[in-house]
Amino acid sequence: MVERISERFADMVKVFAPAKINLFLAVMGKRDDGYHELCSVLGKLSIADSLEIRRKNGERGIKIKCPKYKDLETENNLACIAVKKWLLKRGEDWAVDLILHKQLPPMSGLGGGSSDAVSALLAMNELGDEKLSRKEIIKMAAEIGSDCPSFLENGLCMAEGRGEMVRTINHSAAHNLIGQKVLLFRPNIGLSTPDVFQRLSQTNKFSSVEWVHTRLGMWEKQKISITEFLHNDLESAVFYKHRYFSAIFEKIKKTFGLAPRMSGSGSCCFVLIPDEFERVAALESLIYQAWGDDSWLKFTEIIH
Ligand code: C5P
Repeated sequence: MVERISERFADMVKVFAPAKINLFLAVMGKRDDGYHELCSVLGKLSIADSLEIRRKNGERGIKIKCPKYKDLETENNLACIAVKKWLLKRGEDWAVDLILHKQLPPMSGLGGGSSDAVSALLAMNELGDEKLSRKEIIKMAAEIGSDCPSFLENGLCMAEGRGEMVRTINHSAAHNLIGQKVLLFRPNIGLSTPDVFQRLSQTNKFSSVEWVHTRLGMWEKQKISITEFLHNDLESAVFYKHRYFSAIFEKIKKTFGLAPRMSGSGSCCFVLIPDEFERVAALESLIYQAWGDDSWLKFTEIIH
């Protein structure tokens, strides 16, 4: 099981919840259950939310505080849903106080909500009298959200199905990316995942299974570089409406020779920064100039 605990007391656990980016995200079609069949390579980032989860014996109920985003202080928060599910499954009925320190903006395609939920499950497993098995945690994570199980793997992983079928990637193409510098940049707008998938469905622009397997094989055998491999089928669905994404991508490619991509269903984008790249300040000011001072930029790296 992944290690997410940063502090541990008798009745309180502090956990971190890392972000993800989708280095490769291909959508192959719409399924009968309404979800989309996808294949994705995900990397975890050093930037993370953190959660404090406190056990209160003799009381009942779940309370959540989220100082930076008051609108996330609801029982629909995925972290609360995770806590509730854990208590129900284990048949334990103590109260839980949750404090969520968000670093990751919501509706960004960085998996913040899903990662918070998974870290909440791991924290509950620490605080509880009895633990859920890894298998039970994986099952519960998949019920909470399609990309939750991917946060139970360290390092780079591959997600298939609706995103819940996860396996590790052990070859050197993946290993070489640990420590890779990444600049995240996000316009001051959030995007809804269901909307983006729906827009893609309407355009019917899916990848073929053959193409996906060919690309994966080429990357795994290191016949193409990570820059050539980067891909996201959801971009076209977003960029058709939000033209400023393609405009800034073109500008970054032309000016710096870098290859920007959107993460998941957006709105956050990323660019891999080579070690020898010396123009980070110029790149950042280009983004602020194009998308305004209220855009969100973070320098981070891919972690194990
Ligand atoms: O699984 P999760 O609740 O995170 O998914 C949110 C929404 O994103 C789904 O209700 C669906 O509209 C869309 N989705 C999809 N295909 C996937 C994953 C998510 O259409 N593979």
